[in-house]
Amino acid sequence: MKKLALILMAGLVVATSCKKDDDNMTTPTPTPTPTMTLYDSLGGTQMVADPSASGQMIEKGRLGIRSVVDSTIFVIAADPKLNSFFPVLLAEVTSGNLSGFQKLSTNLTDFFCVATGAKNFTYKGLNMKDAHDPAKHPRMNGKASNADFDQFVVDLVAGAKKVGLSDQLIGQVGKVVETTRGDVVQK
Ligand code: HEM
Repeated sequence: MKKLALILMAGLVVATSCKKDDDNMTTPTPTPTPTMTLYDSLGGTQMVADPSASGQMIEKGRLGIRSVVDSTIFVIAADPKLNSFFPVLLAEVTSGNLSGFQKLSTNLTDFFCVATGAKNFTYKGLNMKDAHDPAKHPRMNGKASNADFDQFVVDLVAGAKKVGLSDQLIGQVGKVVETTRGDVVQK
C-alpha cells in the first residue's frame, strides 16, 4: 500500500512537471506589432525643440514634414512653370505679408502629417478638389494639368532634397502625393 502511494505520488509529480512544461511550451498570445507609419519614419512623435519658435517643442515627424513643405513652397515660388498659379500668395509675400504663406504652410503640413499617419493633428483646409478649383478657391489661378502635377512632383523632390530627406523617404512621400492627382488635376 505504501509502495502504491509512492508510485501514485511520483506519477503526480511527473504529471505536474509535464503540465508545467506544456504551459511553458504554449506559444504566448501574440501582441500585435505596431506597424511603423511613414510619419514614424519621418521622425514620429518624439518631441524636439522647434528651431523656428524659441522655447517650443514640436514632434520630430511634423518638423521634418514642415521643413519639406516650406522648402518646396520656395522652390515652387521660384519656378516659372508653376508660380503663375499662386499670384495672391506671391503678391502677399512680396509686400511682406506672410499670413497666407503661414496658413498654406500649416495646412500643407497638417495634410501631410495626417496622410503619413500622424495621430495628433487634423487637416482643416479645403478638400483637395475644392482647393485646386479656381471657382471655389480664388487663390488658385487656373486649373492644373497632369504636366503641372508632374512639375509639382519635380519641385517637391527638389525641396525635399534641399532639406536632406533620403531618396527612400522621398519615394514614399511621392506615393502619398500621387494619391491626390485625380483631385488636383482638373484640366
Ligand atoms: C499641379 C500641382 C499643384 C498646383 C498648381 C497647386 C496649387 C495650389 C494653390 C495655388 C493653392 C492656394 C495657395 C494659396 O494659399 O495661395 C494650393 C493650396 C493647397 N494645395 Fe496645392 N497645388 C498643386 C498640387 C498639390 C498637391 C499635390 C497637394 C497635396 C499633396 C496640394 C495640397 C494643397 C493644400 C493642402 C492646399 C491648401 C488648401 C487650403 O488652404 O485650404 N497641392 N495649391
